[in-house]
Amino acid sequence: MLQNVLDTQKEVLDFEITNAETLEQFRLNFLSKKGKVSLLFEQFKLVPGDQKKEFGQKLNILKNIAQDKLTNAQVSFTSVANDLNIDFSLPGDQITIGSRHPLSIVRNKINEIFNRIGFTVADGPEIEDDWHVFSALNFPADHPARDMQDTFFIEKNPDILLRTHTSSVQIRVMETQKPPIRALFPGRVFRNEAISARAHCIFHQVEGLYVDKNVSFADLKQTLLYFAKEMFGKDTQIRLRPSFFPFTEPSAEMDISCSICGGKGCNICKYSGWVEILGCGMVDPNVLEACGIDSKEYSGFAFGMGIERTTMLKYQINDIRLFFENDVRFLKQFAAEA
Ligand code: PHE
Repeated sequence: MLQNVLDTQKEVLDFEITNAETLEQFRLNFLSKKGKVSLLFEQFKLVPGDQKKEFGQKLNILKNIAQDKLTNAQVSFTSVANDLNIDFSLPGDQITIGSRHPLSIVRNKINEIFNRIGFTVADGPEIEDDWHVFSALNFPADHPARDMQDTFFIEKNPDILLRTHTSSVQIRVMETQKPPIRALFPGRVFRNEAISARAHCIFHQVEGLYVDKNVSFADLKQTLLYFAKEMFGKDTQIRLRPSFFPFTEPSAEMDISCSICGGKGCNICKYSGWVEILGCGMVDPNVLEACGIDSKEYSGFAFGMGIERTTMLKYQINDIRLFFENDVRFLKQFAAEA
């Protein structure tokens, strides 16, 4: 019986596989259900007990030799694709490459424009205290922004709140740095507002601050004109309208000539030719003093703009909620700009 195994092994080794047909022949002869190797396995039960061990070992070796020979030949004589049932000519799965979020693109552009004229970027916490968001910024105790309707307070401690503007970072920077200060503060802000196409309870701002000796309103105006032209195109005009913020005096709001209709009038600019883009002003001496900066020696300007608003104007986006839905069909339209 053992001899049968050895004979079959010789046959296996001698069998010449030269093409797909002889390959199939080999498989049928030896490894199919009725093949010689399989039949030897069936004979195993007839082997006398004292020979079982050796017979079993030899038979297993034979099976492995036959199986290896078959597998090697399959690689050579049938295409792998056929074997695995794969059609390599089918187009592959697309690897979609992500793109920067439009808000990041615009924030980076703002940073870059101001970096060129010496502004560095600083950061501050989103969970703030009353001092940095309101008191140090000269907000009177009864100012409506301190109302729960406008600001998210932490229930257990009304001194802790989500910052409503990035002006809080002005205070943190002025408290820790000596003038000259020329810095930019991009970040997320929170207001207790109903969500609509034009407003969201979470949005982003970029704040700018310049404090030095002899900083004037003319410096502010020229800096903002430079920014507007770099951001919206060299033909962009600016207009400053008197306004009020507790932390700047005098204060202004800046409009740019409508980049969509070029000032002729359209529904984006509500047929006025101008769109509001930021708030600004000269840092109120009370704010400088609250941060330990001598307001007789130093003066400064500050400005703050919404990144969503700027992005909506730049790309003519008409609903702020699109920024937060993360629909790739929306987001990928800006890929080329990054
Ligand atoms: N913090 C103001 C706002 O949120 C914007 C601003 C910043 C105005 C700096 C003047 C100076 O509306």
